[in-house]
Amino acid sequence: MDIKNNVTKIFKNFSHKKYLKIEGGKFLKGNIEISGAKNSALVLMAASILSKGEINLFNVPQISDVSIMSKLLITMGINIKSNANQLTINTKEIIIPPQDLFFDLCNALRVSFFCIGPILARFGKAKIPLPGGCSIGSRPIDEHIDSLKKLGVIFQYRNNYVIAKVINPQKRLLGSSINFKCKSVGATETLLMAASLAKGKTILNNAAEEPEIVDLANMLNLMGARIKGAGSECITIEGVESLKGCDYTVIPDRIEAGTFLLAAAITRSTISLFPCEPNHLKALINKLELCGCKFEYSNFCLKIIPNQILNSVDITTGPFPDFPTDLQAPFMALMATTNGISKIKETVFENRMHHVKELNHMGAKITVKNNIAKVIGVKKLQGREVTGSDLRATAALAIAGLSANGKTIVKGLEHLERGYENFSEKFQEIGASILKK
Ligand code: EPZ
Repeated sequence: MDIKNNVTKIFKNFSHKKYLKIEGGKFLKGNIEISGAKNSALVLMAASILSKGEINLFNVPQISDVSIMSKLLITMGINIKSNANQLTINTKEIIIPPQDLFFDLCNALRVSFFCIGPILARFGKAKIPLPGGCSIGSRPIDEHIDSLKKLGVIFQYRNNYVIAKVINPQKRLLGSSINFKCKSVGATETLLMAASLAKGKTILNNAAEEPEIVDLANMLNLMGARIKGAGSECITIEGVESLKGCDYTVIPDRIEAGTFLLAAAITRSTISLFPCEPNHLKALINKLELCGCKFEYSNFCLKIIPNQILNSVDITTGPFPDFPTDLQAPFMALMATTNGISKIKETVFENRMHHVKELNHMGAKITVKNNIAKVIGVKKLQGREVTGSDLRATAALAIAGLSANGKTIVKGLEHLERGYENFSEKFQEIGASILKK
């Protein structure tokens, strides 16, 4: 396969001219099918590097980040067959990737850096581009690096690459006890994957507790790993010699589900989501109940029933189970339309308030000081031409457009397509006037 052209084709598909055209003021009604979780599917794909067998992943969302991760694995000689929401991954012909192509793909996708753990566990050495920062923050990797050093890895840095090598003569990682300085989803996932094939026991203290980490541990255990405690802040991993293939279904995307709940609240509409695991969304559901929304839940189906008048409430983002940073922007869009004043404090990323300027352009009354936004609710937002700067900010502007007076043009569709499967189509199905142009 001519990978280079294939990869350029991906980047060409990201037309930066696509936008959403939204007519606001429509009530939404009906059921939304929630896709598989982006932030689980991507790391499960990276974990497939550890397997000597075949991995069948089900409920994989068809989004551009998954396409890029697929191309990244293909440059490593991994065989991938995709059929709708199923990926069949076989690593028997895996190689160390050609560097230039790998560089472009890694630069397009931060989660590609999480491959360093599986590659080191499998080959004892790795050369991976340093992930850059992005619009929401510097995105450091010190927790990944410092923890892998504890497992016996040495690092060099050359021309924007991280060059890593396992020091012991058997080229095998050695289990150790690790205390993370901060709760990092990515670092916890990198170490889970690396420690699965290490010699001996690894203990992760102050581990992140997100549902996506539990999903990764469940798949690794199906492959033959011996992991206990995922979902708590202390995880133990007994290393094994090798990992086999397995079939695995990705959990529903809690951030997509939260985005749709907020769209229902901002349009004061009653909708249902399926499948949806409310335990993955407790922080959001609690805040929406305080605003004046009611919920009904049965058999993986969650229904939201908002009052016509909703009250402003305060939130502070934080690692799971606290309020998710990925729903901060869509939640702010809702608070721009509720009765009262809301304080929104972002504690996870240092630069995740770009949506404020665009929401104010739509008539919102938001001021920001020291990563705390003060949102004075207004009766109605006004349709405007706005531009999203990242995945979740663009989603926030889209749901603001659903409730605004008149027409809203939301530019930055390439951000949305990274993480939401069929975003506009799903909203059309429940009555929104939203077109991809
Ligand atoms: C994951 O990113 C998600 N991405 C992000 O989702 C999500 O916002 C984030 O976790 C927090 O929940 C994927 O899973 C692919 P972190 P990750 O390491 O792992 C600091 C989206 O919109 N930190 O948990 O990169 C870091 O600066 C994306 O879907 C270090 O200091 O996030 C941040 O303040 C955006 N050193 C905090 O930890 C490190 O080595 C949380 O980052 C690593 C992180």
